[in-house]
Amino acid sequence: MRISEGESIFAHMTALASQYEALNLAQGLMWLQTSPVLLEEGIRAMSDPSLHQYTHPAGFYPLRETLAHLSERFFGVSYDPVSEISITVGATQALFSVVQALTKPGDEAIFIEPAYDSYLPALQIGTLKAYAVSLDIRPSGVFLHWEKVERYLSPRTRLLLLNFPHNPTGRVLRPSDVKVLEEIAQRFPELVIVVDEAYEYMYWHPDPEREEALPPRSLRQSPLLREKTVIVGSLGKVVGATGWRLGYVAAPAPLTTRIRAVHQFITFCASTPLQVAVARYLSADPHRVFYFHAALLERRKAFVSLLRSHTSLEVLPPEGGYFVLVRSNNQDLPDRLLAEHLTRTAKVAAIPLSPFYKDGTDSGWLRLCFARPMDMLREAAQRLGQVYPAGLSIAHLNE
Ligand SMILES: Cc1ncc(COP(=O)(O)O)c(C=O)c1O
Repeated sequence: MRISEGESIFAHMTALASQYEALNLAQGLMWLQTSPVLLEEGIRAMSDPSLHQYTHPAGFYPLRETLAHLSERFFGVSYDPVSEISITVGATQALFSVVQALTKPGDEAIFIEPAYDSYLPALQIGTLKAYAVSLDIRPSGVFLHWEKVERYLSPRTRLLLLNFPHNPTGRVLRPSDVKVLEEIAQRFPELVIVVDEAYEYMYWHPDPEREEALPPRSLRQSPLLREKTVIVGSLGKVVGATGWRLGYVAAPAPLTTRIRAVHQFITFCASTPLQVAVARYLSADPHRVFYFHAALLERRKAFVSLLRSHTSLEVLPPEGGYFVLVRSNNQDLPDRLLAEHLTRTAKVAAIPLSPFYKDGTDSGWLRLCFARPMDMLREAAQRLGQVYPAGLSIAHLNE
């Protein structure tokens, strides 16, 4: 299998947004400012001459300890920072290291789509046989039909790659998923579950009117699954500094040993001063993992309500993360052309979902990121309302 050589849909839509001076709700970037305290910790660590050399490949130990405390505190599950937690260069590098470490060429893997765009390349570089299972995305919710996963499961399946809360749909982990996975894990003892929890603390009340976060859930909370699961996290997402490129892996010791063996040759270690800064920031007050919650919940409520009142679009509010999906119920353009068209005419840039599918399935849904200033969201809803006026079911596309 070859990796696609074209530019990513994110780069494409962002370039188009700037060409047409459109509001960029396409890129997944968080535009909310990170905590000034984190920035001060960054400066302090950068200014310390003793913090500019490699750390241990597994990561700066106090950061691993901090992550162990966070897991205990917010998920009630402990990991040993010595043998079970490793710091990586973002969740992205973690995923590539995990795939390389735990599989061999020709092994089979199953992943869920629409899928974050680095999953397929990670599986392809690992030369795995990758099977994609599609979520069922409806205005009433997002459904994961486990019987579709069952169709591909066999003793040859080495890896099941999941993502909760899910990008781009906002689908969160449900207790019923845990039950199914426990049963699967017992039936296939060689299977490893890899779960991308980049948005791990962002569990929202399903009703966007209620600006309420729910306690986060994780596969690690099942004692059985904890032993079969590799958790991939993004510290960049947690602290709102994705450019710092910090992530982590939490996994049982035997799996961690294998993952670290690969990780050390891919990148050796992540940036020392930035690891130090994040360790100090999060250990001083663990509740800082919720730093963006109020702003994100406020924006989810406002944006969903604006889209519903100003436009005729179907709106799917997320139960986690910071993306909302929209779809016109009367649309004959392929989603990619539609996204380009909206960028040029409505001057709102969105991400079409077809590039999140292995075979380019077009579900008609577009992804909008609401981690943006409130004014921008108001303006975006208004502009979309000019193309899809409220009360009309037919899209008026004035090319
Ligand atoms: C689901 C998911 N996984 C992983 C990542 C990448 O995380 P990182 O920036 O830590 O590499 C993202 C970034 O948008 C994401 O949405």
